[in-house]
Amino acid sequence: MRIQVNAKGAARLLSRHLWVFRRDVVSGPEIPGLYPVYWGRRFLALALYNPHTDLAVRAYRFGPAEDPVAALLENLAQALARREAALHQDPEGGYRLVHAEGDLLPGLVVDYYAGHAVVQATAHAWEGLLPQVAEALRPYVQSVLAKNDARARELEGLPLYVRPLLGEVPERVQVQEGRVRYLVDLKAGQKTGAYLDQRENRLYMERFRGERALDVFSYAGGFALHLALGFREVVAVDSSAEALRRAEENARLNGLGNLRVLEANAFDLLRRLEREGERFDLVVLDPPAFAKGKKDVERAYRAYKEVNLRAIKLLKEGGILATASCSYHMTEPLFYAMVAEAAQDAHRLLRVVEKRGQPFDHPVLLNHPETHYLKFAVFQVL
Ligand SMILES: C[S@@+](CC[C@H](N)C(=O)[O-])C[C@H]1O[C@@H](n2cnc3c(N)ncnc32)[C@H](O)[C@@H]1O
Repeated sequence: MRIQVNAKGAARLLSRHLWVFRRDVVSGPEIPGLYPVYWGRRFLALALYNPHTDLAVRAYRFGPAEDPVAALLENLAQALARREAALHQDPEGGYRLVHAEGDLLPGLVVDYYAGHAVVQATAHAWEGLLPQVAEALRPYVQSVLAKNDARARELEGLPLYVRPLLGEVPERVQVQEGRVRYLVDLKAGQKTGAYLDQRENRLYMERFRGERALDVFSYAGGFALHLALGFREVVAVDSSAEALRRAEENARLNGLGNLRVLEANAFDLLRRLEREGERFDLVVLDPPAFAKGKKDVERAYRAYKEVNLRAIKLLKEGGILATASCSYHMTEPLFYAMVAEAAQDAHRLLRVVEKRGQPFDHPVLLNHPETHYLKFAVFQVL
């Protein structure tokens, strides 16, 4: 059984993009699974296939293989091998072991939290392979949890559930991140429990010192905990009361009495702080993805610009703005244009301190731009 694609689908795979949409599939099997993809008689790739969804073909190997399952599991073994040095050096840390397309394992995410793994599968073909995934993880972890409650699964016709695949899964674990420790709710947190893609950016922010810092869209105190090591007072803002309870617990865990939390809608709060004349030495903005799809870009651009503009206005002269976007559709050029426009509207000059992105465990494939989603930049406001 094989998948036949049209010339447009073939061109994508030949350019080493991993995806072919259903409209470019000429014929294929009825049942989701792993199949070879052909253009006429020409073999193109092995792919995860689901005929019932728009994103029907997700390639994972561009050469032939006798056993498609073994070839996919080989990619998994290679992904784990790429993280081995980090896990060896830092077993109590948090790392992404599998970053889906970025590791040629489309639709599979595996996060590591101090000896425990959380798996999220959003492509149909993984469903029957989860026991093998758990087995591959066994040498690295004490437990594996399938946190298969992401809405994206519904598009694939998959059920939503959270259940252990291996070992005894604790409710929470303590993760070490540089000089800070934080708690992760494996079963109930956002995403797989934490935002590991910002790990190195959070560590980077430890170098700054000052009086007052503001961490907006803080989740469980992500940046705030690191900033509290160098600032007299840090305020962590989020709209989720649950996340902020965790932030407070994390502050106590680290003996940081200078971290205060504030439950608020960031858009309203930033305006209010400005009105009240509050000023800060440093502001972090790490909003959720405002642009989920291409059609949202214009609206998202305005939302990003609004929070950046407000944050710039709150900064003292010489203050630091650290700003992020995790929307793929908000491309790097758009992101920097947006910050520049916000600075212009605020009549302030911004000096680039650092331009950053994703850490090594969230790899980017140059030919598959969707793997590059995180922008993180630090500016000094003059
Ligand atoms: C990308 S996460 C932040 C991750 C965090 N900086 C870290 O390092 O762990 C985005 C956060 O924004 C919060 N959020 C979403 N919309 C919000 C809003 N309008 N105002 C304030 N917080 C919001 C979410 O609850 C979530 O915790």
